[in-house]
Amino acid sequence: MHLLVLFGLLAKMVHSLSSPSSTTTTAAPSSTSACIKILYAGKSEQYPSYEKGLLQTFQEIGLPSNSQVELTDDISGMTQDEIDYIIYNPSSALQDFSPYTNVKAVLSLRAGVDQESNNPTLSRDIPLTRLVDPGLRQGMIEYVVGHVLRYHLNTDRSWQQNQQKDWISSDPPLARQCNVGILGLGELGGSCAEALLSLGFNVWGWSRTKKQKDGVQCCHGPGGLDQILQVSDILVLLLPNTPETQNLMFEKTFSKCKPGICIINAGRGNSIDDDDLLQALKDGIVAGATLDVFKEEPLPKEHPYWGHPNVLVTPHIAAKTRPETASKVLADNIRRSEMGEQMLYIVDRGTGY
Ligand code: NDP
Ligand code: OXD
Repeated sequence: MHLLVLFGLLAKMVHSLSSPSSTTTTAAPSSTSACIKILYAGKSEQYPSYEKGLLQTFQEIGLPSNSQVELTDDISGMTQDEIDYIIYNPSSALQDFSPYTNVKAVLSLRAGVDQESNNPTLSRDIPLTRLVDPGLRQGMIEYVVGHVLRYHLNTDRSWQQNQQKDWISSDPPLARQCNVGILGLGELGGSCAEALLSLGFNVWGWSRTKKQKDGVQCCHGPGGLDQILQVSDILVLLLPNTPETQNLMFEKTFSKCKPGICIINAGRGNSIDDDDLLQALKDGIVAGATLDVFKEEPLPKEHPYWGHPNVLVTPHIAAKTRPETASKVLADNIRRSEMGEQMLYIVDRGTGY
């Protein structure tokens, strides 16, 4: 399936996007025009939305004059060494990047790029970008704020009391009496911090490098981790999957936590030693865990997290990539590259994020 779009003065879109397999040509390629070939290697059912969003955005923001775009989701549809950009989801059938010898960049559809970054066929010389977009940001804010409030308001206990028809009054604390620690103060962690601050929570943030963020008590490095674990009533993990974050939360780090801490992991499953978390739950060090990401996904049916009274499993849905917003970011990044500007959100292949 191909789309050919001519930009510049001759551009005139007359395409029909009603069917994902439609082919639309807006104008015949001229001998002088440059063709930007883009392969979409993502979920096939989302291709029509990306196709529409990318082409609309290219039209709005423009490309170097006289350049045309050819977009396909058919991995075998274009000669591999002619592809300029690959828009990529690691669940795609495309796992071997080596035939794409002239690719200018791989643009991931995900914020966490551990799979792409660790793919040995993707040369470190090829820029890999990760996704930073308003849709992901808003989704993550809603997930994190929702579950922080759930713990803060003790909603799970209300459900239990409902089952028993128990009327037990209490004096719930206000947000200002609650410390929320965020491990990973990046694009998503930083945005969640701002949302929680606006509700009055005391927000702590932890990053690899030193950071300053208005209203947030920032700490970094190994020493900073101890500090944030000791104060947090609720701990949110928004860390990438790297060798350094592997089993960051394990017996020793759990033992440093404020007793009764609640944990929300929306980053990557590698950050938690699962056996040690189950033990910490048993010992009452951890009162509750909300887990969206796991070492093995889907979480195997026999996993003790399922059905655990103090664990809520969600199926990696904290923040979904939405074509409407993501296609704008992707198109603009391709435009930057074509205009000779620095692409945004390039992954540091050394740190892995
Ligand atoms: P960023 O790269 O913007 O932020 C990552 C943060 O983690 C940075 O603050 C970074 O520190 C910090 N960090 C990394 N390594 C360490 C370390 N060893 N010690 C301390 N801090 C560390 O990523 P995003 O905020 O965009 O995304 C975070 C993660 O969320 C993604 O990597 C992905 O895995 C996950 N995610 C999950 C989704 C879901 O649906 N569950 C959806 C989207 C993303 P520094 O600032 O110093 O670099
Ligand atoms: C991501 C994710 O990293 O969905 O974008 O987990």
